Parts: sequence; C-alpha cells; structure tokens
Amino acid sequence: MAKVNKIAILTSGGDAPGMNAAIRAVVRSALSHGLEVYAVYEGYAGLIENNIHKMDRSSVSNIINRGGTILGTARLPEFADDEVAMKGVENLKKLGIDCLVAIGGDGTYRGVLKLHNFGINCIGIPGTIDNDIASTEFTIGFDTAVNTAVDAIDKLRDTCNSHHRCSVIEVMGRYCGDIAYAAGVASGADLIITSETGYDEEEVMKFIEKAQEENKHRLLIVITEKVTNVAALANRIKTETGFDSRATILGHIQRGGNPSPFDRVLATRLGDAAVDKLMEGESGVCIGVFNNEIVCTPIPEALEMKKNIFRKYAIDTNNSVR
Ligand code: F6P
Repeated sequence: MAKVNKIAILTSGGDAPGMNAAIRAVVRSALSHGLEVYAVYEGYAGLIENNIHKMDRSSVSNIINRGGTILGTARLPEFADDEVAMKGVENLKKLGIDCLVAIGGDGTYRGVLKLHNFGINCIGIPGTIDNDIASTEFTIGFDTAVNTAVDAIDKLRDTCNSHHRCSVIEVMGRYCGDIAYAAGVASGADLIITSETGYDEEEVMKFIEKAQEENKHRLLIVITEKVTNVAALANRIKTETGFDSRATILGHIQRGGNPSPFDRVLATRLGDAAVDKLMEGESGVCIGVFNNEIVCTPIPEALEMKKNIFRKYAIDTNNSVR
C-alpha cells in the first residue's frame, strides 16, 4: 500500500449545512495522522484552475456551527470530459497530492470515480440536503433542511389558521421526496405529495372538496419541487373550490443556516471515517451510515443503488400515516 502524504479536500454541487463540520473533521483527522492538507476552492472548477491552498489546524477553527461551505462550491458537468479531468489530476500531481476527499451528491461522486480511475486515491462523503444518495441512510444537511422546512410550515400554519386558508408548500429535494415526507409528517401537514407518490391533480381536488364537507378551515399541503406548479395548483383550488389558497416556495432558505447537532455529528463521523479509509488504502468508494454504523461502498455500486425511500404512498395524514 502506497504511503499517504498529502490530502486535498473539496465541496461540490449544492451546498448543505454540515459541510463545514465535515471539512473540519477531515482536516483535523488528516493532520493528526501527520498528513499535509490542502483546500481545493470552488469544487472541481477550482481543481482544474489550480485553486488549491495549504490548510492548517486554524483554517477550520470556528466553522463547525456555520452553514454553507468555507471552500465554496460549484457544479461542473464538463468534469465528465477526460481532458478536463486530467487538468485536475495534473494540478494535484504537481503539488504531490496523492489523495482527495470530495463532499457532495451523485455528481460529485462521478468526479471522485473519474479521479480514482486516473490514479488519485479518492473518497466521497454524502453532502446534500436532498437525502437522495442511496448508499447512506442520511446525507449531511438533510436534517437541518427538514428543521428549516418545519419551522417555516409551522409559521404558515399560524397564518392559515387565522385566515382559514389552504397553504400549498413546495420544498426542495430534486427528485427525492424525503424532505417533503419528513417535514410534512413533523409539521402535521394534511397532504404530502412527493416524486415517489405520483401526482394526480384530480385526486387533490377531491381531497380539498372532502375537507370542505368536513368543515376543515385550514389545510397544509406539502409538495416536493418539480412535481407540479404550486402557484397554479393554489390558484385552481381557490377558483374551483372557493377555498382561499396561497402557494409558498421555500426554496434556497432550506440550504442555509447553522447545521443541526445531528448533521454536525454525522459530518464529523463521516469525515473521520473518510480519512481512516484513505489511510487504509481505500479509493473509489463513498462513506455512508446505516443503522448508525459507518459503511463504505464502491462508487459504481453506490450510483446504481436504488434509494430506500421513507414511505412510498401519498399521505393523507388526516386518516393515516403509512
Ligand atoms: O441538490 C440540492 C438542491 O438544493 C436541490 O434540492 C435543488 O433542486 C437544487 O439543488 C437547486 O440548485 P441550484 O443551486 O442550482 O439552484
């Protein structure tokens, strides 16, 4: 097994609360193993632009509680191109860096695999609010995003109660309904619609009419982004049923804020484990957690895995939570 001397770290894709805690864990753990540590700024874009700088212990002081990523992040689909990726490999080699830890989602993992195939020892850590990585039960940032969404939905409940309104709330998640499911259940939403449940607008209209017959004067409907146009849905509800409705898109506020303690602990454990695995000579793998145990999965397998979604049904929480 080749001796590990220098390690670099980057964050890529959408930022997520807890990424800083993971960066801190990787840096502190690597330093404790006697490695030199380098920051790659702005994700894979910074790697090909040689935006790589040495870090020390104090580089990660006072960041465990901070949202965002101190390294900056970017999406770089061009990194799939071998010639582009080779520039990154050359930049790492020029500095004598033999290992890289990348924190992000599935796009980030594809970059890890590419670098691994080009001979750089590379490990991925799951960092995205979407929780859409199948090789881990929880991604860094998901718990904080759910907390943010619940806080917002609680506030919408207050104003909906006062005005006897129906609130149609769009949460993030890309094509994964985990934020909608968790935030919807935790905030007592009346209806939860996710990418996995499918969407039948006529069923939604019937649900509203039934709620009116039951004299409900306030409704909360939580929907994953990309399922439907929430403004158009709120408008249709209002026009066709007379139930005064408003749409709210929670948007990027779900990506910000101080990470929850759960995310800080998760990020710290995953960061430590990534360095341990690199020291053991692992590469082309990603770290995750299942049943509170750290797991390590080859990236090709991780990218093929089907996500074990929380629940697969549309949830009418007035009747049952399945
Ligand atoms: O992947 C995280 C995520 O926040 C998704 O939930 C969302 O679809 C997307 O990123 C938004 O990306 P952007 O930063 O490009 O607006």
